Amino acid sequence: MSMNIFFLGFFFFVTPSFCRVPQLERASTPPRGWNSYDSFCWTISEEEFLQSAEIISNRLKPHGYEYVVVDYLWYRSKVEGSYVDAEGFDVIDEWGRPIPDPGRWPSSIGGKGFSEVAKKVHSMGLKFGIHVMRGISLQAFNANTPILDTAKGSAYEESGRQWRAKDIGLKERACAWMSHGFMSVNTNVEAGRAFLRSLYLQYAEWGVDFVKNDCVFGDDLDVAEISFVSEVLRNLDRPILYSLSPGTSVTPAMAKEVSGLVNMYRITGDDWDTWKDVVSHFDVTRDFSASKMIGAKGLLGRSWPDLDMLPLGWLTDPGSNEGPHRACNLTPNEQRTQMTLWAIAKSPLMFGGDVRKLDDTTYNLITNPTLLEINSFSSNNMEFSYITGRKRSRCKNKLVSQHLTEGGMLDKQALGLTTCKDPKANGWSIKALDQDLEQICWNEKLRSKFAETPCLYKGKRLLASGEENIYMQQYQGTLHLLASDGMELCLDASPRRRLTSKEYGGGSFSPCKWDANQIWKWNANGSLTNSYSGLCATMNSLKADAGSGGIRSWIATGRKGEIYLAFFNLGTEKTVVSANVADFGKVLPQKNLMGASCKYHEIWSGKLGETKKVLSIELEMHSPALFVLLCH
Ligand SMILES: *[C@@H]1O[C@H](CO)[C@@H](O)[C@H](O)[C@H]1NC(C)=O
Repeated sequence: MSMNIFFLGFFFFVTPSFCRVPQLERASTPPRGWNSYDSFCWTISEEEFLQSAEIISNRLKPHGYEYVVVDYLWYRSKVEGSYVDAEGFDVIDEWGRPIPDPGRWPSSIGGKGFSEVAKKVHSMGLKFGIHVMRGISLQAFNANTPILDTAKGSAYEESGRQWRAKDIGLKERACAWMSHGFMSVNTNVEAGRAFLRSLYLQYAEWGVDFVKNDCVFGDDLDVAEISFVSEVLRNLDRPILYSLSPGTSVTPAMAKEVSGLVNMYRITGDDWDTWKDVVSHFDVTRDFSASKMIGAKGLLGRSWPDLDMLPLGWLTDPGSNEGPHRACNLTPNEQRTQMTLWAIAKSPLMFGGDVRKLDDTTYNLITNPTLLEINSFSSNNMEFSYITGRKRSRCKNKLVSQHLTEGGMLDKQALGLTTCKDPKANGWSIKALDQDLEQICWNEKLRSKFAETPCLYKGKRLLASGEENIYMQQYQGTLHLLASDGMELCLDASPRRRLTSKEYGGGSFSPCKWDANQIWKWNANGSLTNSYSGLCATMNSLKADAGSGGIRSWIATGRKGEIYLAFFNLGTEKTVVSANVADFGKVLPQKNLMGASCKYHEIWSGKLGETKKVLSIELEMHSPALFVLLCH
C-alpha cells in the first residue's frame, strides 16, 4: 500500500478550475508535530504557544516535527468559573464564530484572529494548526446570531428572510462529551452549509495549515459535516490538512466512509500516560493495518489512522484547568513500547509534552532516527503472528513454553457501535414475549461464548413535555431499549465510555429521556441505528485481553530493503520472545528469505548479531525490542 509513496513523491491532481496549480501530495507521510493538549489542556496562552513553537523549530523541526497545533477552547475566556464544559464563556464574533480569547491571545485584538500567530509560526519554518469542535456553539445558538454569507460579505438571506443560528443548530445533537459547548448544524439547508463555510474560510484567511475537527468521528460520527468541510477544504488555494477526532469505537468499516475525505483520523479514545491506554492500541491498530488503511487515499493525498498524541515528558491532566505540572507516569520501557508501536504502525506523531522542559531521555526517544525512518518510510506494516514466548515459571524457575495463537486468546463479546453499512451489525431480531412485551435479541449464530443471549426490552413510549414535543416528529418509529422490563433504564450510546460485557450488564444504561443518544431504530435487515450518531449496535468479540499479558510483534520493510521486526512483552513476567527467519517470507513480499542469513541490530539494547534461523531476545515486563535486519 505505502510502497507507492517513494515513487509518487510528486503527485499531480485535478482541482476545480479556479486553482489549477500543481501541488504536493498532502500528508504523503504520517504528519508530525506538537499539540498543546497533553501539557496545557485548554489553558495555553499566546506567549506560551510561541515560546514552545520557537523550541520546536530549533530542536524538533530538524526531525520532521513541523505542525504546531493549539488544542481546544482557544476561544474560551480564562476567568473564574470557566472550565472545559462551562457555558457562556466563549468569545464569538457577530456571526457566531469562535475567535481567540483576547486575554490569552492578545495579538487577536482588532479582528485579527490567529493571523499574527500564524505569521510568526510560519516565519519559524513551521505550520500552524488549530482544534475546532463540531458545528456551532450553544452560545451562538442562544444568542441567535446571524450567519455570514461569505460571497456577499453580509447576512445570509433566503426566501426573503435572514437565517440565524437557531435555524441551523441541531440542539438534540449536542456534542455528547461537551454538551454545553457545541452542537451539529443542519447541512441539509444552505444556511447550515453557509455557516460552516464561513468558519473554514476564516481559518484559511488566518493562515491555518491544519484543522483537528473534534466531536465528529467515532461515537460522535457526523458524516454530513465531515463531507461538507472536506469539500470546502478541497476547494481552497491553501492546503489545510484535515484531522478527525475522537476515535471511540472506530472500526475500519466506519473509517472507510470518511478516510478519503481527510488526512488523519483517530482510531481510539484519548490516550494518556497509563499502561492500559498504551495496550489498548494494539488490537485496533492491527485491524486497521489488516484493512489496508495505513496511508490509504485521503483528501488530495493520503490518510493515516491516528493513535493520538504522545503524552511523554512534562504534562497536565485531562480536563484540567492547569498547565504542565507533573512528569509522565509511564516507565522508560513503557514509553519505548509506545514509541515503537506508533512508529511501526505509521501513526501521525504529535508530541504532547511541554517542550520548554524537554528532558534528554524524552528528546532522544521522540527523535530516534530509526523510529522516525520507520514511521515515515517503511511499508508492508502489519502485526506478525509467527512468534513464540517462553517465560520463567514462578514456582520452578524453569522455562515453560507458551505459544501465542489467535485461538488461545480470550473470547468475550461486548456491545459496541459500528457503521450501519457493516453487515456485522445486522444481528438483531425481534422476539415477542407476550402481546405487548417485545425483546430485541442478538442472533444466536453470531454470538460466540457469551454467557447469555444478549436481549434488550423495547421501551414503551414516554410522554414528552411541551418543549420536547418539537423533537418528537423525528423520533417517529424509534424506540428506547431497556435493560429489563419495568426498569426505566435505557441503553445509552454515550461515547463517554466504552461498552464492555461487564458494563452491558448494568453500566451502560441511564435513566430514560428524550436524548438522541438513547433513541434507536430497528431496521428490517436486523440493524439497530442510534439517532445521535447514526451508528449501529453490534456485539464485538474482544479478542486478546492484552492488559493481563501476552506478547505481540509487528513487521515492516524499509526503503532500502531492510526488514524491521518489533517484539512487545505486554505481560508482567520476563519473557524470551522468538521468531524464525523462515517465517518472514510468509508475510513479506521479499523472495528467498528461506535459507537467508540475516545480520541484525537491536536498537534498544544495541545488540548486534547474525542468524540463519531464530531471532530471540529476553524482554522485561512492558518492554519492546526493535530489530533492523539485512537478510541475504
Ligand atoms: C440496513 O438497513 C439500514 C436502514 O435501511 C441501512 O442504513 C443499512 O445500510 C443496512 N445495512 C446493510 C448492511 O445493508
